[in-house]
Amino acid sequence: MRLKNVKGAKEKIEASSYIIQEYKGFENDNPLHIEIGMGKGKFIIEKAIKNPNINFIGIEKFDSVIVRALDKLEQVDIPNLKLMRFDALNIDSIFNKQVDTIYLNFSDPWPKKRHQDRRLTSPIFLEKYKKISKKDVHIVMKTDNRNLFEYSLQSLTDNRYKIINISLNLYQDDIKDNIQTEYEVRFSNNGDIIYMLEVIQILDI
Ligand SMILES: C[S@@+](CC[C@H](N)C(=O)[O-])C[C@H]1O[C@@H](n2cnc3c(N)ncnc32)[C@H](O)[C@@H]1O
Repeated sequence: MRLKNVKGAKEKIEASSYIIQEYKGFENDNPLHIEIGMGKGKFIIEKAIKNPNINFIGIEKFDSVIVRALDKLEQVDIPNLKLMRFDALNIDSIFNKQVDTIYLNFSDPWPKKRHQDRRLTSPIFLEKYKKISKKDVHIVMKTDNRNLFEYSLQSLTDNRYKIINISLNLYQDDIKDNIQTEYEVRFSNNGDIIYMLEVIQILDI
């Protein structure tokens, strides 16, 4: 998703109290959940409102996209939510053993083999997730992309992740408490299959 040339995006981002440049913690010790590639923020905003005892950080690499999330936040005060603009490739320079749960929603599939390291479930990212996770690495992903789903299953199980929840058709299964993302609304309205996977990697530390 790339929205080019959103007028005033940079200024809006600089002025917003939701945006942080570095992570210094929240004013409490509640668990920290992050969404990598939050897009326009529907999921993380709704998740934060419904779960005031969890801290949330939405991460997005483009100004032009993150500013759309800020539009939604103009009239609301959500103390347990912050947003950060950076490329997740640098995620291990932002967090250090602080994260409890990582959400990967409709991540870019990077279909070409030569780009597979860019997939957010590639071994390169899984190594980073180990460094940022407080204890066990807990990942919840949803996607409409069968190839990305199969690749992720392989990559995660090869790296000793245990599956704790899986759906090969989320909208046919029990989807109680599911919060839709912007992409999910579009794909599910289209009748596309949505895959879901929740995994945990127990770290011996
Ligand atoms: C396909 S969109 C999905 C957006 C949203 N999660 C949803 O489900 O509606 C993927 C988003 O991830 C962002 N993204 C992709 N790779 C990223 C990375 N390495 N770091 C941060 N954001 C990334 C893109 O800019 C885009 O906004």
